[in-house]
Amino acid sequence: MSIHIEAKKGEIADKILLPGDPLRAKFIAENFLDNPVQFNNVRGMLGFTGTYKGEKVSVMGTGMGMPSISIYATELIKEYGVRKLIRVGTAGSLNEKVNVRDLVMAQSCATTSRIIQNDWRHADVPATSDWELLYKAYNIAKAHDFPTHVGPVLSADLFYSDFFEDNLMLGQEGVLAVEMEAAALYYLAKKYHVQALAIMTISDSLVTSEETTAEERQTSFKDMMLVGLETLIA
Ligand code: HPA
Repeated sequence: MSIHIEAKKGEIADKILLPGDPLRAKFIAENFLDNPVQFNNVRGMLGFTGTYKGEKVSVMGTGMGMPSISIYATELIKEYGVRKLIRVGTAGSLNEKVNVRDLVMAQSCATTSRIIQNDWRHADVPATSDWELLYKAYNIAKAHDFPTHVGPVLSADLFYSDFFEDNLMLGQEGVLAVEMEAAALYYLAKKYHVQALAIMTISDSLVTSEETTAEERQTSFKDMMLVGLETLIA
């Protein structure tokens, strides 16, 4: 047991899918995994371990924002030996080429947060994805013809901000989308020498104000979960 996770050693696989929403972790466990067993309910942050195509895989919520994902990712890596972590979340498009329902794979992250400097004071650590996971995930998504973009994202501290125009300027510089967790996950993966990737479906556009219906969101989330799970076992 760690401070925020009540699982015993061995109850969490070395590969994990990390949605922000714990109820989405339950959805993935119930719809994609065989024989899922719940390993966490501390603070309602549901986590499950089951098998996917015969391989042991876990899924757990992270909550929203970099402080929250940092707590769970650190404990999963240090206390439970997790070695491959794939965030599956949502993001807002900052770029006119990136449409709602598209998949975005974060190759690297800009961030408005000081979370990395707070922990690693002597240099800027580049928040970059694991190349092998990114390469596999991109090929899996392409093989399914899912519309997919690879590039930088913005990991923001604020969902509601008066400086939203600044985010759109980053979009014009080639940043694809804004979300709130990937930079911290990538930093921790680098720090502890494990592999991480963040895949997001675009739930809304800050460029066009286009939004998705609940049903469309569900379909593109399923596409993303499939890519995440196939990448974990590839
Ligand atoms: N901002 C931050 N995170 C998000 C957004 C957004 O607009 N949409 C989905 N996740």
